[in-house]
Amino acid sequence: MSQTLVTGIKPTGTPHLGNFAGAIQPTRELAAQSELRSFLLIADGHALNSIREPEKLRRYTYEVAATYVAMGLATERSVLLRQSDVPEVYQLANLLACYCSKGMANRAHAYKAAVARNQDQDLDRDAGINMGLFTYPLLMSADILAFDTDVVPVGLDQKQHVELTVALAQRVNQAAGPVLRVPAIRIDEATQTIPGLDGRKMSKSYGNTIPLFCSRDQLQKLVFRVQTDSRAKGEPGDPSRCTLYRIARAFANEQELRSLRHDYETGAGYGHIKEQVFEQIDAVIHEPRKRFEQLLEDREALDGILERGAQIARDSVRPVMARVRAATGLL
Ligand code: TRP
Repeated sequence: MSQTLVTGIKPTGTPHLGNFAGAIQPTRELAAQSELRSFLLIADGHALNSIREPEKLRRYTYEVAATYVAMGLATERSVLLRQSDVPEVYQLANLLACYCSKGMANRAHAYKAAVARNQDQDLDRDAGINMGLFTYPLLMSADILAFDTDVVPVGLDQKQHVELTVALAQRVNQAAGPVLRVPAIRIDEATQTIPGLDGRKMSKSYGNTIPLFCSRDQLQKLVFRVQTDSRAKGEPGDPSRCTLYRIARAFANEQELRSLRHDYETGAGYGHIKEQVFEQIDAVIHEPRKRFEQLLEDREALDGILERGAQIARDSVRPVMARVRAATGLL
């Protein structure tokens, strides 16, 4: 039987290398297994928690769409969709809310991190936090559960949200009978999340990202800005603790990584290592970068892809919704 994969990217900024490592690359690997059907989500409903400029949200949405297509993910077996084009997902999120204790939502990562930031600054714990952020995992769970999903490839940072999805599905099933398919979480051990320029997790919220499709020159500049330790040329280094090497692992092949490790062991300087890592990343994104640029010039073509995706997605979620509504007494 064919399995279903769902993954999502929040269009809150220009897609960066961390999106590649956490979502795009693991999805590519899984999708290469012919039996898999993929739903690739642009989580614009999630982005609305933080983006209040409509033109910006629209632009990022198209950029994420173009990224999926440029990276070769939009194939016969995959459906590219904008979350907001599938209203059933919001309906399901609302239903799931009734099965989610408030304590469970209090413990969700995205919310807890926002509370921690407030506390660090001596602000009220809920300062600036909207209900969209608080209920974030409910909408994400609905994205996943509405498609009868089997696998969800995510970066380590999203693992807890998917665990919450699993727990919620189990609660609904306990109360209403086996109506929701319980998904498996897939985390690519090798890449997971990658560090950004300053060594912390590459994230839009830390402002330490490297855009996936910046120009070759810009990419080189940014790779050269990645922070490294004070090891002098000639001194051997430990690649596993180096931000550069951890970024490279998401892009380089086995042979390139072996050669990089050799560079560290033999005390190569960071200038040399940065040049290698830059070329390894560029080799992966050189062709997709051209496609990305072409796609963004033609929003109508992207609209066509998204319209088709919305139709297939809505057809797919309809039977799931009917099942859930009947089982919970909403029908
Ligand atoms: N929350 C994910 C992120 O920020 C994006 C996302 C939204 C997602 N819906 C999803 C991921 C469903 C996997 C499945 O990266």
